[in-house]
Amino acid sequence: MASYGYFDDQHREYVITDPKTPVKWINYVGTLAFGGLVDHTGGALICKGDPALNRIVKYIPQLPSSEFKGETLYLRLATSDRYRVFSPYFVPTLDHYDRYECHVGLGYTHIVSEFYGIRTDVTIFVPLDDNRVIRDYKFTNLGSQPVEMDAIPVVEYTHPDALKQFTNADWVPQTMQSRVHNGRNGLKILTQYAFLRRDIAVNYFTSNLPASSFETDRARFLGDHEYGTWANPQALMATELSNYEAHRGDNIAALLHHLGVIQPGETRRLITQLGQEASVEVALPSIGRYRDGREVDTAFANLARFWDGYLSTLQVDTPDANMNRMLNVYNPRQCHVTQNWSRYLSLYQLGFGARGIGFRDTAQDVMGVIAHAPAEARTLIEMLLSVQRRNGSAFHQLNPLTMIANAGDSREVEGGPDYYGDDHLWIVLAIVAYLEETGDLAFLEKVVPYYEKDRSEHPMEAGTVLDHMRRAIDFTTTNVGAHGLPLLGFADWNDTVNLRAGAESLFVAHLYGKALLEMIHLAQHTGDAAMADRYASYYEVMRARVNDQAWDGEWYLRYFDADGSPLGSKVNKYGQIYVNGQSWPVIAGFAPPDRARQALDSVKHKLGTRNGIKLSMPGFDGWDPSRGGITTYPPGAKENGGIFLHANPWVIIAEATLGNGDRAFEYYNQINPVAKNDQIDDFECEPYVYPQNVLGDEHPQFGLARNSWLTGTASWAYQAATQYILGIAPTHNGLHIDPCIPCSWDGFSVVRRFRGAVYQIEVNNPNHVSRGVTSVTVDGQPNEGNLVPVLDGTKVHEVEVLLG
Ligand code: GLC
Repeated sequence: MASYGYFDDQHREYVITDPKTPVKWINYVGTLAFGGLVDHTGGALICKGDPALNRIVKYIPQLPSSEFKGETLYLRLATSDRYRVFSPYFVPTLDHYDRYECHVGLGYTHIVSEFYGIRTDVTIFVPLDDNRVIRDYKFTNLGSQPVEMDAIPVVEYTHPDALKQFTNADWVPQTMQSRVHNGRNGLKILTQYAFLRRDIAVNYFTSNLPASSFETDRARFLGDHEYGTWANPQALMATELSNYEAHRGDNIAALLHHLGVIQPGETRRLITQLGQEASVEVALPSIGRYRDGREVDTAFANLARFWDGYLSTLQVDTPDANMNRMLNVYNPRQCHVTQNWSRYLSLYQLGFGARGIGFRDTAQDVMGVIAHAPAEARTLIEMLLSVQRRNGSAFHQLNPLTMIANAGDSREVEGGPDYYGDDHLWIVLAIVAYLEETGDLAFLEKVVPYYEKDRSEHPMEAGTVLDHMRRAIDFTTTNVGAHGLPLLGFADWNDTVNLRAGAESLFVAHLYGKALLEMIHLAQHTGDAAMADRYASYYEVMRARVNDQAWDGEWYLRYFDADGSPLGSKVNKYGQIYVNGQSWPVIAGFAPPDRARQALDSVKHKLGTRNGIKLSMPGFDGWDPSRGGITTYPPGAKENGGIFLHANPWVIIAEATLGNGDRAFEYYNQINPVAKNDQIDDFECEPYVYPQNVLGDEHPQFGLARNSWLTGTASWAYQAATQYILGIAPTHNGLHIDPCIPCSWDGFSVVRRFRGAVYQIEVNNPNHVSRGVTSVTVDGQPNEGNLVPVLDGTKVHEVEVLLG
């Protein structure tokens, strides 16, 4: 089987060596504040603050992989009678290459290619806290003869309202404007804006070398009324570009640099900047700075330093190299990406319209970054709380730029429930995780508004964070159906099972149970006995309802429909068993030991595949309006019996909770993308991040992955591996250490920063057990039990753990 690249562990890069990957493989640069994605052939989709309303570059993922997308660069070699034009990014000219390497790094992409004796070495990144993408090119003449060469970087702009770009072909092009700003010595800045934003937000594209000419109009660049192509732009057959400032139309930015004669072995450096500022005047000082290669080097070194610091929060050394790769580099990196981009900018989540940040998605994403970026996590939590309704439920999604929230797909069903049964409960888990990591109990007192506004757009009510949590719990306590189980609303975690109003969700019942456990622990920690008692009684009530009514014989049910009939039962033709119906009663502590074991064994036997655990089975086989979106997929795809990876770590957590380390690890391995590196022709997506879904075994393309990067799998796989398999879990009172590992392991070690201190944890497993801490020493002194208290934050502490 073909492989398209390899992991370079020393440099923490994945190196793509064949540009013809089955689908585009991407990396992210910058953050949501400014940044976007860069594909492995140099295409880029960049935006500032929001991909829907402030997108800079046009990138249409649905076009074939060979097509131009967003940005590229052409090199032009002068030959005796004509020019040879090619792109060192392979796309869009598709010339034969002697070498192509795309190094997917931490916040940067570094491409090295060789065409026609010219090596191009380009690093693409956004400096920390900055509003520009830098492309730092070095061109080297590898041949034995001098060459005369020009370099023409090109960007294609979009209207900032990214959806309008595609829905309106009159107003949009009439508003698009480009101008040139001539600096000294031939340096040029091309500016671009939609007319209405002329005085507030200007895109710019510039370089560090004199440009002898430029183009801003796509039709002129391609030539022949656009019967010229990106693969062969006719403008590049003339000595100079037309120096045209577009007053409408499809705007681009192209700068022509004559690099002159390059001697054998000689290297030239070209640095481009694509950014957005209020005006070119505001941008000028920083543009000047980044024209200096030393400043670019410093910015790149600072980026590397940021990632060193970020990742140093948790580093592991286990007997499994693939797990080490994920936990030390790629999984925390993916969590950083999901924290930024939630579900709204990837090659699959296109960032148009109103989806924005998902309430439940971001609440879960936050849990993957709390240890590394607690301040950012807290900010996101506050943002989510501000779109919680006064009744405790939450809006499904929000646009972070406008802070306008909406009820998601539930809007499509008139008269149905306008909330999702689970959204609001996730925030309880996220807040508690934040408190356990940081000890910042004062956060509970912070006042945050509820979403509803009065006529002058002021929030009608505000409450403390604790009040928000209580209302979230109360909403579920009071919104129950005929069995006393929580109402489903439009849907729960599984967006696509949309039953009639009045349906009940077992998943929400379990999530509520888990949230109650967290509230009880919190109340015990803060000494609020009344709160602890109240929630303990709620917990017992729900536990009894679940166990009295939802055990199906070998597993738990998943839903009750509005008429009281079950779904996720052996009596159903389709959807007999759902994985979340089994993992979550274990996570919530609802399932008694015998049922917990049996439910998880049913998962293994009915839902397990070599590529991961399916969400449900058998898949529905045709549209059924009474079941909703799930029946739009063929059997084996997405939520309809696909391997929806997000749900896999929950089974890992449940197995670890029961002490089954071998199985927990087997499940972990099955979905580890690193292990797919030599199965790419089946898997197709990047082997360095989790995809959202893999086709299940009811589908002819079993094993095919899609929707890489933006998935809750990142956060939960990270939590499952670090807190449940390796078993190093932050709690209110310290680090709880309770590994649940494969019996074959001799041990492992972890370095964990926690509340300022560094814990160097060494776990030894001489008797080859899965679980069972027999002794812990801290700095050579015996520790009572396996909770290592919060330690002096100025020191490194040695923690020795013995299993037996
Ligand atoms: C998508 C959604 C997530 C949902 C999941 C399952 O990943 O972003 O919110 O829980 O699908 O339907």
